[in-house]
Amino acid sequence: MKKLCIAMCAMIMATSCCNSPKECNKECCEQECNPVIETIMSRRSIRKYKDQAVPRELLDKIAECGINAPNGMNAQQWEVRIVDNPEWLKSVTEAQVKAAAGTPMEKMFSDPDMKNAFRNAPAVIFIAHKPGMCTQIDCGLMAGNMVLAAKSLGLGSICMMGPLGFFSRPEGEPFLKSLNLSDGYQLLLCVGVGYADEEPEARPRNKDVIKYVE
Ligand SMILES: Cc1cc2nc3c(=O)[nH]c(=O)nc-3n(C[C@H](O)[C@H](O)[C@H](O)COP(=O)(O)O)c2cc1C
Repeated sequence: MKKLCIAMCAMIMATSCCNSPKECNKECCEQECNPVIETIMSRRSIRKYKDQAVPRELLDKIAECGINAPNGMNAQQWEVRIVDNPEWLKSVTEAQVKAAAGTPMEKMFSDPDMKNAFRNAPAVIFIAHKPGMCTQIDCGLMAGNMVLAAKSLGLGSICMMGPLGFFSRPEGEPFLKSLNLSDGYQLLLCVGVGYADEEPEARPRNKDVIKYVE
C-alpha cells in the first residue's frame, strides 16, 4: 500500500508539474513551476467520461480534501454522499427522463450519447448543507477543493446544480431518501468525477473584474 502511494505521488508530481512544454501552463511557468497553480489553471469542467470506474481510494481522497476546505467558524454544517453505483445512477437518470417527458426539460435529455443525468460521470459526490449564514459558501469551497483534488489525481470532474432540482420533486423523493441525509440537511450541489474523455478549451475569463484599489 505504501509503495502504491509513493508511486501515485510520483506520478501526480510528474503530471501536474509543468515540465513538458505541451502540459505547461504558460502563466504559471512564466513565474515558476507551481503544481497548485498549474492544477487550478488547467482544470476544466468535464462532460465526457471513459467507461472506467474511479477507485474508491481516490474518491475517499477527494472527499477528504473537500471537508478540509475553509468553512465559517469550522462549523462543518455539511454532509457528503458518494455514489459510484452505476445502477443507482442509471435508475435516477431513467426517472429524470421520465419526469421530463413532455416538458421543456425534455430537450436536456435528447443527447443520444448521454450515459447519465450527471454529465455522464461514473461517480457523483453529493454535497448537502444545513442552511446557515455561511453554509452555501462553505459548500462551494468544499466543491472547489474537490475538483482541484480530482484534477491533481488525474481525474476529470464537474460541479453541478442542474440535476438536483429533480430531487425535490415527488419522483425524486426515493432517491433523495436513499442518500440518507441527516434531518435539516438539504442538497446543494454535486461533483461528478471520472476519467476524462475530452480536453475542453478553457472558457474565457474576464480579467477586468480584478482591480487594485490604491
Ligand atoms: C455552482 C455550479 C453549478 C454548476 N452547474 C452545472 C450544471 O448543472 N451543469 C453543467 O453542465 N455545468 C455546471 N457547472 C459548470 C460550469 O458551467 C463551469 O464551471 C463554467 O462554465 C466554467 O467552465 P470550467 O469549469 O471548464 O472552467 C456548474 C458550476 C458551478 C460552480
